[in-house]
Amino acid sequence: MSKSNVKIAKAALAVCATLALSACGQGHKDGDKVARGKYLVDIISCKDCHTPGGLMGKPNMDKLLGGSDIGFFEPGSGYFYGPNLTPDNETGLGKWSEDEIVAALRTGKRPDGRVLSPIMPWMAFATMTDTDAHAIAVYLKSLAPISNKVPGPFGANETPTAPYETIVMPQAAPTPATPAPTVNDAPPVTPENTTTPPPVPH
Ligand code: HEC
Repeated sequence: MSKSNVKIAKAALAVCATLALSACGQGHKDGDKVARGKYLVDIISCKDCHTPGGLMGKPNMDKLLGGSDIGFFEPGSGYFYGPNLTPDNETGLGKWSEDEIVAALRTGKRPDGRVLSPIMPWMAFATMTDTDAHAIAVYLKSLAPISNKVPGPFGANETPTAPYETIVMPQAAPTPATPAPTVNDAPPVTPENTTTPPPVPH
């Protein structure tokens, strides 16, 4: 092998090594994303609202993130059950792209255009970084699909087919029948309502 051929061979080796490294780096990156996504989903506790038994404090870990059996009634709006977040094609997020999951998380917008009930805390997730939102989507897509269609959503006038919790709106404190006048209720002193004192008798 001539000197220049050796050089070319060395260069080719270096390119291969770089390619191999970056390929390996890519695999690593996806693994990191899944781990980061799992970490976030665990600490945010998505499972409370998205796993059977989650809202009773006893999530069925065999059906982790496979959809809730208990919904929420949002008065005036409807009944919402935390859907199946596993990548099942018919009953879960199987047909959603990574970007569609990210959009639902941060803007509440589903691919069909419906905006999710604020019971799903998407408003709180609005400022989540791209890295974290995508890590969650990648993690959800890495789960084993579970076939489970949650009930609903039902409109506020429909009859839900499964149990639900009701969001109770706080009532305003009752106003007293005759509020006692306070200093602040006194009319301001102006020349018109200032009474002139009676003349002093001699
Ligand atoms: C307080 C309960 C609650 C928590 C916590 C929660 N969600 Fe939800 N989520 C819901 C409900 C309820 C819906 C359905 C709302 C609707 O249909 O309008 C929903 C809908 C969704 C959807 C849309 C799915 C679909 O099929 O329409 C996605 C995606 C989602 N949640 C992901 C997550 C992730 C990821 C987390 C944690 C980072 C999370 N949610 C935490 C209650 C919750």
